[in-house]
This record gives sequence, structure tokens and C-alpha cells, in this order.
Amino acid sequence: MIQSNDSINSRLPSVIEFFSKDVAEFKRQLTQLESEIDKDAIPQHNDEFHQRTLAAFKQSQESCRAFERAHESEPDLIKEVQARFREETSPWFSQSWIGNRARTKPSGFAGDYEMLVKLYEEETPARGIGAYIDLCISELPLANAVRGRKDMVREYLLNEITSREGDLRIMDIACGPCREFLDWPEFEGRNIEVVAMDNDPVALEYIEAKVASQLPPSTTLKPVRFNAMRARNAEATKSKYGTFDIIYSVGLADYLTDEHLVGIFSGLGETLSDGGALVIAFKDTDQYDETPYQWHLDWFFYQRTVEDVLNIYEMAGFNTAKMELTRDRTEIIVNYASHRAPDCIRRLDPAEVSRPSRSGRIAKNGKVVEN
Ligand SMILES: C[S@@+](CC[C@H](N)C(=O)[O-])C[C@H]1O[C@@H](n2cnc3c(N)ncnc32)[C@H](O)[C@@H]1O
Repeated sequence: MIQSNDSINSRLPSVIEFFSKDVAEFKRQLTQLESEIDKDAIPQHNDEFHQRTLAAFKQSQESCRAFERAHESEPDLIKEVQARFREETSPWFSQSWIGNRARTKPSGFAGDYEMLVKLYEEETPARGIGAYIDLCISELPLANAVRGRKDMVREYLLNEITSREGDLRIMDIACGPCREFLDWPEFEGRNIEVVAMDNDPVALEYIEAKVASQLPPSTTLKPVRFNAMRARNAEATKSKYGTFDIIYSVGLADYLTDEHLVGIFSGLGETLSDGGALVIAFKDTDQYDETPYQWHLDWFFYQRTVEDVLNIYEMAGFNTAKMELTRDRTEIIVNYASHRAPDCIRRLDPAEVSRPSRSGRIAKNGKVVEN
């Protein structure tokens, strides 16, 4: 039932129709599934309940997408309707481990290290209907992309270490659970030092216990509490931690504003050793539909195209013509690699560059202006 809410219900018949037809149908299907699925059931991939939960979830995504398209020019209305949608579907989504964690954000952030561990392991502590919802969420395009991203960065690191000689220093910003270092090979006679930085102390405890302790002798991993915003000050970072041959960050940039990223990239460029590489992963908004993350999970990212991201790098003084872009196996994630080498990072007055972008362009004063 729709409760009285003047701010949305009285405004548009389409809102009433959305809740009384589309959302009601989704709730009816979830109620039916809940009555049939054993509350202790462990989902089996592709069994009848999985297929039916998935069909209901997809149908709901379509109706949410259609509502959003019809009201594109009314972001406040969409926000309100999304909140009501989540309220109405909470009896089922609160039973899903991923759905509940994304919506309640116990770490203040939907994509915390524990969420990432669940997405990597594709296992849920939930049972019954909640576990079936988890199964559907962990098959969403972005969940596959997160796994592809982790495999891509691991491959990148292994290739870089193999192609370079001698000791190496690596900085991992917003390292989360550091799963790319599991089953890590030995590099005999070399010293690979990884400074793993995150602002979540619980993530750091996790990597100390589960990752650092199982690395072979040639690699050491040092967990460090660090707010990525501090990377804007290269002098402070260098005096405390030194310079690095590889600096990378995977899974953070999509949550930060253009303005913050410009400062961070500029600082990180200066924190590289000569010949060092800076690698940052972004989601490509042209490659996925954001509906289920925003509507069903309350999980938002900045929606950026490749052009938007290159614009940020230009603003930070990078020569984007010299950058290497690689995609993960899902094609959703793009890794942007740049090097501290002649012509690759140039010091620019930000006022010289201003290119429009979809997510908001950067004005001459360096501030983000919404398009
Ligand atoms: C989506 S996870 C990615 C973790 C890891 N890089 C991976 O790909 O598995 C994002 C991580 O960013 C961390 N984080 C969020 N804001 C941060 C900040 N301002 N500084 C440092 N870490 C941050 C979170 O604690 C979380 O561990």
C-alpha cells in the first residue's frame, strides 16, 4: 500500500501507477517466492527459485528504468520515489546480505572491504529468499566487473614486476581486502614492498591477518591507515612514505568528485619515482545500466565516460595522449595507466584546460560545474 505522502503521491498519476502496478507486482512476486522458499535454503545456481527471483528482479529493474526515463528532468522526484521504493521492498532486501549492507552502510560506505570480500567469494551468509536475492545481485554486470577488475590489476602488477628489474615499491590506495595478493608468487632475490593504504581500520586488520601473513618472503605488505585526500600533498606523502614505482587505486575513484580527483592525481604523479606508473580504475558509464545499483541497492557512483575521465587527467597535468587504457573482461572497467617520464606528466596551469564532460565540467577556477 502507498502511504500518504503528499510530496510524491499528489504530484503525478505516474507515481501512483508506478507503486500500485509495478512495485506492487514486484512485491507480490517476492511474497510468493518467500512463501515457497525454505527459510534455511541455500540457493542453487539456475534452480527454479533462482530463475524466478531473477525474472522478478529484472522486471523490476525495467520498470524502475522506465520510470526514471519518463522523469529524467526531475531528479528530486526520482530521489524521493527511489527512497519510497526501497522502503516498500525492504522486507525482502533486508534479508539479502548484500542488499542490506548496501542499503544500511555500516561503514558509512556501500563498497567497504567486507562487501568486496563477499563479491569476490560469491558466497552469502543469508539463507532463503535473501540468499536468492544475493545470488541475483552477485551476477549483476558490476559484480562481474568488480571481479574482472581485481583479476586485471593482479595481472598488471605481475607483468610490471616481471618486466622491471630489482626491488620495487608499490602503493595501493584504498586497498580494501587486498585480494589481488592472494596466492602471490615468489620473486626470488627481489624485494617487493607494498604499502597498502585504506582509511578503514577494520580493512587493515583483515589484510594484516589474512593477506600479509601468507605472502612469500620476497613480498612484504604493510597496512597503513591513510585518507586518499592526503595524497594531494605530494611533499607530505613523500616525506612520510617515500616515492613509488607503481601507485594504483582500484574501486575508489568512482566515489570521488572531479575536483578531488584532480588534486589527488596531481599529487600522485609527483609521488612516483622516475619511470614509475600510476594506474587508476574507473567504471565506464557507457558500458552498464546503473538502475539496480541506484534503485535496489542505494549504491551510487559518479557516472563518467572515458572522455570525462581523460578530462580530469588533463586538468591534473597529465598528457592523456601518452596514457594507456585497458579494459577488464567485462569491458566495464577501464584502467588508466600513466608514467612519470618525459612528456607524460606536464605541469599545467589548470586555467589552460576546460573541456566539457557529462558528469560536470571543470571550470577555469578548477571547480566542478554541473552541465
Ligand atoms: C570498493 S573498495 C575497493 C577495495 C580494493 N581496492 C578492491 O578493489 O578490492 C573501496 C575501498 O576504499 C576505501 N576508502 C573509501 N574512502 C577512502 C578514502 N578517502 N581514503 C582511503 N580509502 C578509502 C574503503 O574503506 C574501501 O576499502
